[in-house]
Amino acid sequence: MHVSKRNFLRTAFAAPLAATLITKTSFAVAGHQAAAQTTASTAFTLPPLPYDYAALEPHIDRMTMMLHHDKHHQTYVTNLNTATIKNPNLQKQTPEQLIRNLSALPQDIRTPVQNNGGGHVNHTMFWRIMKPAGGGEPNGAIADVIKTNFNTFANFKEKFNDAGTKRFGSGWVWLVRNPQGKFELTTTANQDNPLMENMYPILGNDVWEHAYYLKYNNRRAEYLSAWWNTVNWDEINTRLRAAK
Ligand SMILES: [Fe+2]
Repeated sequence: MHVSKRNFLRTAFAAPLAATLITKTSFAVAGHQAAAQTTASTAFTLPPLPYDYAALEPHIDRMTMMLHHDKHHQTYVTNLNTATIKNPNLQKQTPEQLIRNLSALPQDIRTPVQNNGGGHVNHTMFWRIMKPAGGGEPNGAIADVIKTNFNTFANFKEKFNDAGTKRFGSGWVWLVRNPQGKFELTTTANQDNPLMENMYPILGNDVWEHAYYLKYNNRRAEYLSAWWNTVNWDEINTRLRAAK
């Protein structure tokens, strides 16, 4: 009788305990799957910065570079992955292919891909067209383009900086090659990229406040002027070849 009672108690308590464990396990498994579905996509990845955070000082400070690359650019990459997670075929495309053809995308992800795909493409270019101890006079084919279209480098910089200063709010200032093969200065809002307008970006500068505010505060024109000391003309010549 004593043994039976003990068995009864064991059975009586064991059953709800087992049920509880199963329930918790089910939740845990379901939670794990849900987490996996929202974090597993790594189709698009943040390219490493090709130099140290402090390498562009004194023109661009270490903290700005760290936040700009590790936080802002990473967020565009993460959001692009999230926007395309239900479309494996889209994740097989390059980010440039995605933003060149926004109208082909499902309506519900068009804006997130425009903003975050644009942000990813823009910043991937941006890190590469700068380098430590950069700047100086342009060389190679880009020097010829500037001379032909803007007469002097000083005049080109002045017009580029003026366009960047006048871009209202957040955006970018660009030298682009248009579909007719002509070179022109242009600006875009937000994270729009000239590829969205069928123009090829030869070089561009980021005029979002996150690019300069820690060091230059509201003095965007001062940042635009200093930025030329970071420019990597070799990479810009590579982009010029790719545009043709
Ligand atoms: Fe930026």
